[in-house]
Amino acid sequence: MKILVINGPNLNMLGIREPDIYGKTTYAALVALIEEYAQKTNIEVEQYQSNHEGDLVDKIQDAYGKFDGIVINPGAYTHTSVAILDALKAVAIPAVEVHISEVDKREKFRQISYVRLACVATITGHGVDGYTEAMDLLREKYEG
Ligand code: DQA
Repeated sequence: MKILVINGPNLNMLGIREPDIYGKTTYAALVALIEEYAQKTNIEVEQYQSNHEGDLVDKIQDAYGKFDGIVINPGAYTHTSVAILDALKAVAIPAVEVHISEVDKREKFRQISYVRLACVATITGHGVDGYTEAMDLLREKYEG
């Protein structure tokens, strides 16, 4: 199966940004970890990161007909973007929302997620392991 992993704004700063909240794993290390897990579990994976909302929408649209699942951490756009929600709904590819931190226990504004409405599951607060857990969930769903 083919999975697209999408990271939104500031996730390229992992390891540097607020390590108490997001941990010490760098974005490059996260990419390597996902790639290694994909190889081990026989998943074809593509990874994408952007700080720009429209680019994230474009990437989701481009996934139409090409991917069997999407793992998405939209960063701060989680809490604001109807455009990303609509793109996920448009392509109708099973998507899992991932957050490194436990967003539901943080500020009120982080407890709102628009993208969640288009996702089959949400994983929060499991650190970077949440990404591979999301891949497992998508595979289980794909294999039925
Ligand atoms: C985040 C949580 C968001 O509120 C925040 O804006 C991020 C990262 C997380 O992975 O915990 O950029 O999505």
